[in-house]
Amino acid sequence: MSKKVTTLTVKEMKRKGEKIAMATAYDYASARVVDEAGMDMILVGDSLGMVVLGYENTLSVTLDDMIHHGKAVVRGAKRAMVVIDMPFMTYQVTREEAVRNAGRVVQETGAPAVKLEGGEEMAKTVKHIVRAGIPVCAHIGLTPQSVAQMGGFLVQGKNEKVARQLIKDAEALEDAGAYCIVLEAIPWQLGQIISERLSIPTIGIGAGVHCDGQVLVYHDLLGLQTEIRPKFVKQFGAFFNPMVESIRQYISEVREGTFPGPEHTFTMDDEIAQKIREK
Ligand code: KIV
Repeated sequence: MSKKVTTLTVKEMKRKGEKIAMATAYDYASARVVDEAGMDMILVGDSLGMVVLGYENTLSVTLDDMIHHGKAVVRGAKRAMVVIDMPFMTYQVTREEAVRNAGRVVQETGAPAVKLEGGEEMAKTVKHIVRAGIPVCAHIGLTPQSVAQMGGFLVQGKNEKVARQLIKDAEALEDAGAYCIVLEAIPWQLGQIISERLSIPTIGIGAGVHCDGQVLVYHDLLGLQTEIRPKFVKQFGAFFNPMVESIRQYISEVREGTFPGPEHTFTMDDEIAQKIREK
């Protein structure tokens, strides 16, 4: 197994022009798959709320949810660096609370880093968490925890004013000490400009090919869910229907009495079985 990925590894990858691959995972099993494939970073995203827990958005996810799932992912990730999302309302109220909650996440899960959403206005919070010794991945552009304020899951930074603000946000977060930054749903040109201006890696999701790395949600990239498909998602597999088919086959064999077969069945000595039958 090659060496564990750290903040230094991903910064060095950007310096060398090597692309960084990141995907989400939410439990031991998905972390094993993603890590085995050679992923550089695993995000325990608060998309957990939508793709695993069945909520409409990410706002209902709690710190305890993230810690519970984060622990399982850390157990499954041998090489990849695990980053855990700080959920809604665990870092926005006070900086002290943000540091305490980020501390809980890394202390209780064993993951080295956290991610939080927000631009310039979050820079001081990022600085405080980083000063406590916790690496922070920032996240700007479409920030799903602000979905109500944005009026939906919409592309950000198409107009000049917002685009300029996103560049300021990215620079402020880099100055605050973030070690990388997720750019979500912004025009590719803006993704390129921000990636060129920053010395920390940018990780795009719907931010074009010029970002230093890419991140996708596990269920999206494997085609494990068929309900929502944003434009930026490429399905590298289509496993939902084959999984339904396999389960259907199981149900029908149970109903027909053809499963379990002899090869799935334990046997005892006939004589003993006969004795027991006779009481
Ligand atoms: O929660 C999540 O999965 C994310 C990614 C979409 C970047 O924040």
